[in-house]
Amino acid sequence: YSSGYQAFRSAFLDFIGDPFYQPEAECVRYIADGLLILENGRVKDLGPYEALKAQYADVTVTTYTNKLILPGFIDTHIHFPQTEMIAAYGEQLLEWLNQYVFPIEGKFQDKSYAQQIAAIFLDELLKNGTTTALVFTAVYPESVDAFFEAAEQRNLCMIAGKVLMDRNAPSFLSDTPETAYQESKRLIQKWHKRGRLRYAITPRFAVTSTEAQLRLAGTLLQEFPDVYLHTHLSENVKEVELVAQLFPEAAGYLDVYDRAGLVGERSVFAHGVQLREDEFQRLSEARAAIAFCPTSNLFLGSGLFNLERAKSAESPVKVGFGTDVGAGTSFSLLQTANEAYKVAQLRGQKLSAFKALFLATLGGARALMLDDRLGNFEVGKEADFVVLDLRPTPLLAVRNPTATATSLEELADRVFALMILGDDRAVQATYILGNLAYTQAVGQQPV
Ligand code: GUN
Ligand code: ZN
Repeated sequence: YSSGYQAFRSAFLDFIGDPFYQPEAECVRYIADGLLILENGRVKDLGPYEALKAQYADVTVTTYTNKLILPGFIDTHIHFPQTEMIAAYGEQLLEWLNQYVFPIEGKFQDKSYAQQIAAIFLDELLKNGTTTALVFTAVYPESVDAFFEAAEQRNLCMIAGKVLMDRNAPSFLSDTPETAYQESKRLIQKWHKRGRLRYAITPRFAVTSTEAQLRLAGTLLQEFPDVYLHTHLSENVKEVELVAQLFPEAAGYLDVYDRAGLVGERSVFAHGVQLREDEFQRLSEARAAIAFCPTSNLFLGSGLFNLERAKSAESPVKVGFGTDVGAGTSFSLLQTANEAYKVAQLRGQKLSAFKALFLATLGGARALMLDDRLGNFEVGKEADFVVLDLRPTPLLAVRNPTATATSLEELADRVFALMILGDDRAVQATYILGNLAYTQAVGQQPV
């Protein structure tokens, strides 16, 4: 075989369907002893080791014994400038923004500072097994350049954009409709579809943008129909009331965005905790996506997202998980799944481990319209993946007495324990296009 081939032997878990709409057993692909073959960083083959070993006998195999390989985690909403103010005490959304977020984001005018934090941020994502994210930067174009340069160096598939805000923010953080339009346009031309990078037009939320700015964002979206729209929506009760005051002519919060032409299949709205039924229906009709951010919603006291409604069969809305750091309290999508489970419990709903891991992988890829390239191990997809240890701590070692499961039921139980108790300690290694991008301490290398 050509030198472009690689082989990985381990247990594998991915999703080939949506377990919210089909029986889980039909959606889960689990291979207890599998062989993953890559060609030039893309999936060439995946199957039982015994079935494939002869065909690929010439390829050097990297073996992860007693580990479980999943597609890389996808974080559909996170703020890189908020890395250093995670865990800020005492406030709910609007006060928290004024007191903690805005002063920190002011520091990102300094490109070298933005570069420093971008590096820490991306290291933290990889350490947690997250390989793709939809990312808020700051209002400064320098912060966008710093982020994309760091992502490009690491060969990551990342989506980001300049934050737009032209009111209700400190003057040092404010742009105008016209500068927002011009700077975004220049950044789209520079970064969108450069390698694995994609651009998202990013008005912060309706509170900090005038109607004129939202309309120009809509114009830009028409000019560049394959870029994304990324914003916040209906997170907190006081925020929803303020938006109603600021936009008296709109029928509701989502309608503010809709009137500006910002609601489409490449639109990703963070939170949606306070959405009304007609707004869920409109999101479904538009094929827009929601980023469900449970650690953030609990930390800021925003409320309990109605996942069951969003994923209803009658008018389904695409959903991915967002960590929403720094309102979110963990970079780990395992910890995000843990908190999502508890949000579901408080609503009398059930979130199984398979459903949660679907949201963290293929569900996220679908929410970000990246499922033609990412989200599972289908042939031809890009090989970003995470090597998990089901027994990374003494507690998980007793909870999960063996590292591999012999049935889907056993696997469901093991990975449930992992999502409740696990975090970055469970991430043995992270690969980007088949290349090792992160690994735990020496002494635990693959054999
Ligand atoms: N709404 C507007 N800006 C923000 C932000 O930075 N974080 C969160 N969680 N909500 C927002
Ligand atoms: Zn956010």
